[in-house]
Amino acid sequence: MNILLLIVVLLLTGFLIWWLLIETEGAYLGRRVVVALYDIYAGRYDRVKQFDLRTDILLLSQPLLQRLLPQLDPFILDVATGTGRFPPAMAANARFQGHVIGIDLSRRMLEVAAEKVAAGHYASFITLARHDAMRLPFPDSAFDAVACLEALEFLPDPERALCEMARVLRPGGVLLATIRIDTRWMPGRTPNESEIRQLLESLDMTAIEVEKWQSDYKRVWAKKAGAVDPLGSATRERVLRGLCEVTIKGVEQV
Ligand SMILES: C[S@@+](CC[C@H](N)C(=O)[O-])C[C@H]1O[C@@H](n2cnc3c(N)ncnc32)[C@H](O)[C@@H]1O
Repeated sequence: MNILLLIVVLLLTGFLIWWLLIETEGAYLGRRVVVALYDIYAGRYDRVKQFDLRTDILLLSQPLLQRLLPQLDPFILDVATGTGRFPPAMAANARFQGHVIGIDLSRRMLEVAAEKVAAGHYASFITLARHDAMRLPFPDSAFDAVACLEALEFLPDPERALCEMARVLRPGGVLLATIRIDTRWMPGRTPNESEIRQLLESLDMTAIEVEKWQSDYKRVWAKKAGAVDPLGSATRERVLRGLCEVTIKGVEQV
């Protein structure tokens, strides 16, 4: 009887550890654990995910540029950029003439991203910096578009993170985010379709579209209400100034 109880306790403990560290990638254990796990995981991340640049240009950067037309030089923020999946998809798009800032808290993930930027010669299109998504170090209405892919559920407070993204988006600017299709394994962390619609409406976002994207994620598009007002170059310079850029040479003051 005692052995049976011990086996049940061990199995439950094993399941709990698997769920907390593997299935939910530390999301219920706080920011430090999430970032430490991504630091460990960084070297394998791209191999596991198998992202394809051409597919990402087709399904991410093309539709984003289409929504921003006639502007071809948007200033874009990629929140929780990880190993830099999204910024190269913008930089490698022949129509793109703008700039992407990718921020993340994992130094190792950013180092992999920096290698990609160097290998693709994208330095004039992309700046990488180590910052917390929960406190974006940017003024209000600083970006023409904000992206946050496969990351909301790992941030300490997904709702507050979305408020921050809406804050730094200019009126008429475009938000691109993702939500998980299967919400059962991450209760309270990943909004479903009706919750994200409600939340975005409360943040003054319009033209909300939610569509299936990958096997496990839906893609969410929204536009910030208000008159279209593209940013001037002074705003860009102000935003870029003072960022501590991560490059393959290390961290440099911009
Ligand atoms: C699943 S990865 C997604 C990366 C990338 N957006 C992509 O699509 O491949 C989640 C990322 O969120 C980052 N992250 C987690 N918490 C963060 C925080 N508070 N601030 C900034 N980045 C954070 C992690 O370091 C990790 O790189």
